[in-house]
Amino acid sequence: MPPTQIIVRPAEVKDAQEIEHFFRHVRRRYITFGMEDLPQLIREGLVFVAKTGGLIWGVLAVSPKDAGEWGHIRGVSIIDGWQARAGVGLLLYGARSHLRNRGVRALYIILTEEWLHGPLHAHGFVQASRLGTYLRHAHSIPPIPRDPAALRLVRPDDIPQVAQVDRAAFAPLWSYSARELTYLLALGCRMVVAEMDGRIVGYACGEVIGDIGHIARLAVHPDRQGQGIGRQLLLDTMTYLHSVGVTRFSLNTEIDNPQATRLYESLNFRRFGRLIPVLVKDIGEK
Ligand SMILES: CC(C)(COP(=O)(O)OP(=O)(O)OC[C@H]1O[C@@H](n2cnc3c(N)ncnc32)[C@H](O)[C@@H]1OP(=O)(O)O)[C@@H](O)C(=O)NCCC(=O)NCCS
Repeated sequence: MPPTQIIVRPAEVKDAQEIEHFFRHVRRRYITFGMEDLPQLIREGLVFVAKTGGLIWGVLAVSPKDAGEWGHIRGVSIIDGWQARAGVGLLLYGARSHLRNRGVRALYIILTEEWLHGPLHAHGFVQASRLGTYLRHAHSIPPIPRDPAALRLVRPDDIPQVAQVDRAAFAPLWSYSARELTYLLALGCRMVVAEMDGRIVGYACGEVIGDIGHIARLAVHPDRQGQGIGRQLLLDTMTYLHSVGVTRFSLNTEIDNPQATRLYESLNFRRFGRLIPVLVKDIGEK
């Protein structure tokens, strides 16, 4: 158990180097960001360091989602030799009032690290869904249907409308704000939009990662779902990614999302690897 004088406080930019060093040298770490993003995460004010006698023993990094009241756990780490369950509990307890002051009412984590399961469950996290990875080879792509929507590449001034479609299509946990969509574009994602009657009704985003074409986003406005627009957008994105030389496609989706999984399976995507749990915890109540 941790000894006395435990301090959990928001990190400052001057702590970045020490935190980076800590992350590099501990065995139990869950990190979903590059170290170059650490100063920005710290500036956003939701990275917490836990110290005892000047020594960092734990770090928790949370990104607030623009939409809604969700905080996305992006990093957790506990020093070697300490009990993970106690350490994670103290980090969450120490961070909670800061998170609440920033409007975060619930936390979620896409849990790829086995060692975190027990500690998070012990502190009230429950499984909300499971993500599956789908793969497909990049040849034999069916032609892109011409109907019902007209497809074109996104323009910067489309982003607010794309964000509206995204918000209508996805639950708050998964939706992207205009800022997050702009960030995707800046990272090199190729975005195509579907238009009907002069309105954007859907969009897809595909990115190249090595020889893999990753379908990062696909959404159709609920009023227009089931009309073949998702299939058009997906095939357009696959055709583009194939044209730039990828040999396989990948995507992640909730396995209990029948619209999406049926569409992917009908185009010969196959589930691959283990399912990744998504855990959530309400921190809104007193
Ligand atoms: C998944 C999504 C993009 C599909 O777009 P869509 O335009 O509704 O899909 P389409 O009309 O092109 O349908 C393609 C296939 O999807 C499946 N599908 C579509 N609507 C469905 C429904 N209500 N129930 C079950 N399957 C459905 C069918 O297999 C369909 O093939 P079919 O036309 O041969 O029956 C859309 O439902 C959506 O935006 N959902 C919310 C966001 C999301 O889940 N995105 C994907 C997560 S990665």
